[in-house]
Amino acid sequence: MDCLPLIEGGKGVAVSTGISAGKWAEAGGVGTLSAVNADSYDDQGNVIPQIYHSSTRRERQVELINYAIKGGIAQAEIAHELSGGNAPVHANFLWEMGGAEEVISGILEGSKGLIQGITCGAGMPYRLSEIASRFNVYYYPIVSSGRAFNALWKRSFSKQKELLGGVVYEDPWRAGGHNGLSNTENPLNPEDPYPRVLELRKVLNAYGLNDLPIIMAGGVWNLSEWDDWIDNKALGPVAFQFGTRPLLTKESPIPAIWKEKLRYLKKGDVFLNRFSPTGFYSSAVNNPFIQELRGRSERQVPFKRQEEADFTASFVLEGSRGREIFLRPSDLEKVQNWQKAGHTQGVRTPDATLIFVAPERAAEILQDQNACMGCLSQCHFSGWSQRAVAAGKPSSVRPDPRSFCIQKTLQTVAHLPNVVNEETTYAMDHNLMFGGTNAWRFAQDPFYADGFIPTVKELIEAIQIGK
Ligand SMILES: Cc1cc2nc3c(=O)[nH]c(=O)nc-3n(C[C@H](O)[C@H](O)[C@H](O)COP(=O)(O)O)c2cc1C
Ligand code: SF4
Repeated sequence: MDCLPLIEGGKGVAVSTGISAGKWAEAGGVGTLSAVNADSYDDQGNVIPQIYHSSTRRERQVELINYAIKGGIAQAEIAHELSGGNAPVHANFLWEMGGAEEVISGILEGSKGLIQGITCGAGMPYRLSEIASRFNVYYYPIVSSGRAFNALWKRSFSKQKELLGGVVYEDPWRAGGHNGLSNTENPLNPEDPYPRVLELRKVLNAYGLNDLPIIMAGGVWNLSEWDDWIDNKALGPVAFQFGTRPLLTKESPIPAIWKEKLRYLKKGDVFLNRFSPTGFYSSAVNNPFIQELRGRSERQVPFKRQEEADFTASFVLEGSRGREIFLRPSDLEKVQNWQKAGHTQGVRTPDATLIFVAPERAAEILQDQNACMGCLSQCHFSGWSQRAVAAGKPSSVRPDPRSFCIQKTLQTVAHLPNVVNEETTYAMDHNLMFGGTNAWRFAQDPFYADGFIPTVKELIEAIQIGK
């Protein structure tokens, strides 16, 4: 299937959908629907709210997997219908999502012939190639270094090389959403993507994959800025993936307030943070939601159960039945000041520290942890561990109140009423707004002057001619 080397990257949940994927494919690019807890619809075409009825997390995860399979199939049908068979439709999923393999297999099973490729990032998706070969679809691993691809290739991809459609290089400093920064990479020191992609190309060539496209994702705005990458012999075939720019199109399903907020972002408003319950870095707008999380981590002190060395100040945590713990005397004063400011509740973290939050926040943290339905295979926030539960063991991971329920917040922002008003503004500010670090360009780029919002077709044209 011929197509333009321009791809809309997958964006969960319900940010890249059957509509956006279908429209990208219709316009000749590649569309990627998100297969992460996608929406399904009732007979009247209304979104079926994902409400959970079971009392245990394990049972709720089964409900979640069922919703996700139905949703993925529904989105694949929409994408296929809208695409007119012009270009491929891909489905994106997260290797670290709860029931990942079951969900993607269920979707591919129920949508045979509608999805041509699967893309997958976050973690090391060793089994991606095997899943693709079971359903005879192409696969596109998302990596942030040649080293990661090398490991995937050696362990499994070399056995199914004919269905490897391309490799997405997702720039860990620039791309929106979760980012694959390694421990040795500095989040504050973005590296030039060129030598990193060149290194990836060398790894590919060493395995005879000279003709395999590398899909550059992260910080790409239009093609004129990437002239030296195109027809570059050393880089070999390249394509480009967009995540942030497609958010602002007529067909983009995000609510009007999200589109509105994008228009006013300034340089530096989007930055890498470490709050995601996946444990990965992620790139999001520094809004009150992120600031509240940052506040939690800042209002943090270490404690000891016994008095020792520097930890001599006695402290009794509310709700701990009068049990005494010990803080550093200098920290005790900080705690008293936070408490005076309303952050009265101390909540334990897995790192033998306490964070201080307002009572309603402490209650919300607990409520969200209790409502967990295992959307991740391992969640830092709720402590849910799919592997432990499958092995019949309780999770040994202590919930981390410095993180948050990403499922709840992504579902909320994706389903806000499609109007700009006080209520949606508040909701957008108090939920997670993923975005790439070049999102500030919406406000500067004359293409978007006077409130202009392009159609997908217009955006694809603008990308090609360098607007
Ligand atoms: C709102 C948003 C959500 C995203 N969600 C996902 C996701 O669920 N899975 C994924 O692999 N990538 C996700 N991404 C990354 C995009 O697919 C894409 O690779 C990236 O945004 C490209 O960089 P750019 O934002 O600079 O264009 C997301 C990006 C954004 C902006
Ligand atoms: S608490 Fe974690 S695993 Fe549970 S639903 Fe929320 S994000 Fe998913």
